[in-house]
Amino acid sequence: MSSKKITLAFIGDIVGKPGRNMLKAHLKDLREEFGVDFVIANYENASHGFGLTSKNALELFNAGVDVMTGGNHSFDKKEVLPLFESMELLRPHNYPEATPGTGKKLYDVKGVKLGVLNIMGHYTMPMVDNPFTCARQAVDELKAEGADAIFMDIHAEASSEKRAMMMMFQGELSGIIGTHTHVATDDFQINQGTAYLSDIGMTGCRDNVIGMEAKIPLQRFLTGVGGHFNVPDKCKKILQIAILEIEEGACVKGTKLKIFDDGRRMETEAWQES
Ligand SMILES: [Fe+2]
Repeated sequence: MSSKKITLAFIGDIVGKPGRNMLKAHLKDLREEFGVDFVIANYENASHGFGLTSKNALELFNAGVDVMTGGNHSFDKKEVLPLFESMELLRPHNYPEATPGTGKKLYDVKGVKLGVLNIMGHYTMPMVDNPFTCARQAVDELKAEGADAIFMDIHAEASSEKRAMMMMFQGELSGIIGTHTHVATDDFQINQGTAYLSDIGMTGCRDNVIGMEAKIPLQRFLTGVGGHFNVPDKCKKILQIAILEIEEGACVKGTKLKIFDDGRRMETEAWQES
């Protein structure tokens, strides 16, 4: 295990242009302020709310992201497929073996071998392999490849699945943070060196429905007739980011920030579980 310290940051579902604009406006300053060495962000809603285009991928990497994770919308824009070969993009590791791309990779961060793992839950999600057995195998492989620290983005609807993942890997991983619901939970904690948050919440429009115009979701709930979800042109925006300080593979401090586009900022520290 390396004794070097690293600071990594994680951003959850970036929803459309408002989300991308928040990253462009704040991420480089946040990297500097907190001495962030490595940024992981979830791309699955980054282009018009569904999937990722190559143009938007470049935009996000240029804004200061190092690697991006995915979810059930990873493949919504088909132009993403060749990008798995040319960019630092992951997709849930428990998709079938024939799926393009991978969901686990090792990165060298200041001499520390950081494994990044992207897993998708089962409840209301596309058919994928067992998230728990797949995660177990992937973590064992990353360790065998020499990982000093491992971070997991668990993309899932059910908080119970995410929490069970934490119980399975506490003391083993540096961080397990949930994505997908777009709504942040209030359970940021450190268990035996493993930072855990059921859902980090989205980055994008905060005044609609999960970052999308409220009209179609409301219509669907009232009448049963759905439609295409749109990202609003104008909205009140939020950026949500977790910053993890990692020492010898264990998270020693976790900070969650909410940055509002009107200049307000809220900061929460992860509690250390005894
Ligand atoms: Fe999702």
